[in-house]
Amino acid sequence: MKYLTFKNGDAIPAIGLGTWKSKKGEVYDTIRNAINLGYRHFDCAHVYENEREIGAAIGDAILVGEVNREELFITSKLWNTHHRGEDVIVALKNSLTDLGLDYLNLYLIHWPVAQKKDVFFPTKANDMIGLDQIPLSETWQGMEECLLDGLTRHIGVSNFNQQKLIDVNASANVKIEMNQVELHPLLKQEELLEFCQDHHILVTAYSPLGSPDRHPMMKASDEPLLLEMDIFNNLAKKYNCTAAQILIAWAVNRKTLAIPKSTNVERLSQNLAAANLELSSADMQLIDGLDISYRFVKGDFFEFEGSGYSVAGLWGQ
Ligand code: A2P
Repeated sequence: MKYLTFKNGDAIPAIGLGTWKSKKGEVYDTIRNAINLGYRHFDCAHVYENEREIGAAIGDAILVGEVNREELFITSKLWNTHHRGEDVIVALKNSLTDLGLDYLNLYLIHWPVAQKKDVFFPTKANDMIGLDQIPLSETWQGMEECLLDGLTRHIGVSNFNQQKLIDVNASANVKIEMNQVELHPLLKQEELLEFCQDHHILVTAYSPLGSPDRHPMMKASDEPLLLEMDIFNNLAKKYNCTAAQILIAWAVNRKTLAIPKSTNVERLSQNLAAANLELSSADMQLIDGLDISYRFVKGDFFEFEGSGYSVAGLWGQ
């Protein structure tokens, strides 16, 4: 396995297992299989509604001696309902309880978006709270407290554009250590990646395979299907691997972390093995040329007129 390192030298495996869309009743076996296959990095979040089952699987794997806690790298994310400074630690402790852990390796602000506490998924403007009322700097202070209290070893964000990274870091005592964003060849986010790499912010690529198992309501009718594109299937033939492995290798070769999701043992194994696949610089460049700034996860589910949130505001500079 390849690793990237945080500023303090802590290592994080380049490939982690994504657990978004991993269903209850299924994810226990997935985690146990993944640990057996050698996965040590797991990407979780409160909003995925499966942390309890993931925790049971991790707990059992530790109990039978397959792995120990120190070998694992576990990430979770703060949901939008708990952006108030004093609520961050409450949310983190809830995730720790669900996961059966006494610390996380990494805690991320899931979205630069605040919601009312009793609204899990917003449906109207009134469900939202403006960033003028709960500034991201307040939420970040809550994250710093979690770090000081030893509840997590690293802190970061997700779905932040460059300007939001700059704004939060301007008043931060502890700088942002990770930005997890959608990244794949159709959305390579070169500028954001360069900015992060210049500022000691590691970058995790979510939806590295284009998340074809998203809810149909999240999909455009004409959306591209990464895994079916000729270019990746032709490269797969050339390297004697699969299209998914080409996509994951591209992410790892450009020094991002990748968190492909799978619940299938064969595909879990393939995805992990992709860490060792080296693509030639000519093929990396060929893939780099595919960027069309296409987002599979558009963030339009937070866009309500009068809420202060818009897709343009999320991703624009
Ligand atoms: P499955 O869970 O049945 O393996 P993303 O990580 O971009 O969100 O994509 C996850 C989707 O990609 C899931 O539908 C998952 O299906 C599928 N997937 C994961 N790994 C592979 C693979 N190696 N080959 C083909 N499809 C894959």
